[in-house]
Amino acid sequence: MTTRLAPTDQTARDLFAPIASNYDRWSAVLSMGQDPRWRAEMVERLGAPSDARVLDVAAGTGLITRLLQRRVRQVVSLDLSADMLAMAHARGATAILATAEHLPLANGTFDAVTFGYLLRYMPEPIIAMRELFRVMRPGGVIGMVEFGRPSGIWRPLWWLYTRLLLPAAGVIAGRGWTRVGWFLGPSIDAFFDRYADDEALAALWRSAGFVDVRLARPSLGGGLLMWARRP
Ligand SMILES: C[S@@+](CC[C@H](N)C(=O)[O-])C[C@H]1O[C@@H](n2cnc3c(N)ncnc32)[C@H](O)[C@@H]1O
Repeated sequence: MTTRLAPTDQTARDLFAPIASNYDRWSAVLSMGQDPRWRAEMVERLGAPSDARVLDVAAGTGLITRLLQRRVRQVVSLDLSADMLAMAHARGATAILATAEHLPLANGTFDAVTFGYLLRYMPEPIIAMRELFRVMRPGGVIGMVEFGRPSGIWRPLWWLYTRLLLPAAGVIAGRGWTRVGWFLGPSIDAFFDRYADDEALAALWRSAGFVDVRLARPSLGGGLLMWARRP
């Protein structure tokens, strides 16, 4: 059970509590059906062996966890939202309520780590990246799914989508989705203002200790996938 929550962690918890019960459906709708594909590609290219023990951080309702469960020996789901994690647990996940910045886990425990849509919630993503590194064994692999921010001619269309259509769809979805609809566009912008290109993102991962950092930007740059290895 988490006892310490930074203000930004509390914000994330408040954001997700009211949308946990219908997160799976509306997250797919709001990404125009893209994010299930991104998760599948991330897990597919992660390269975790079938006997691996995997930690899925910011697991939410367990969408990445479930993809992993079909492939590997053991998956542990971790999240700071009890409401989101309850959905994962109800579907059979082994769940830990904790923050990514303070993992209550021993060094070198996992053969692989995954995380989806996490770093944007953090003022200092490097703290979580170092924690993920710490709990992986040497030679372990890590994969991430995140929204991207398209460039070139797609940027203005993406801006219109995130600033007009998403908020409108959030209102239609109701409950906590209205807040999510307004939150997402500026949150993605702030992250990519800070980590503006592949090199800046790779440098963040390398400064936590990871090597062989790879990136993909599916769906015209609307998604961002990353993988790396602990040496
Ligand atoms: C958009 S959901 C993504 C859930 C899942 N990874 C997926 O692909 O659907 C983001 C999740 O990150 C969790 N989260 C945000 N900040 C966190 C932190 N500091 N530590 C652990 N979980 C966090 C939220 O509670 C939420 O469940």
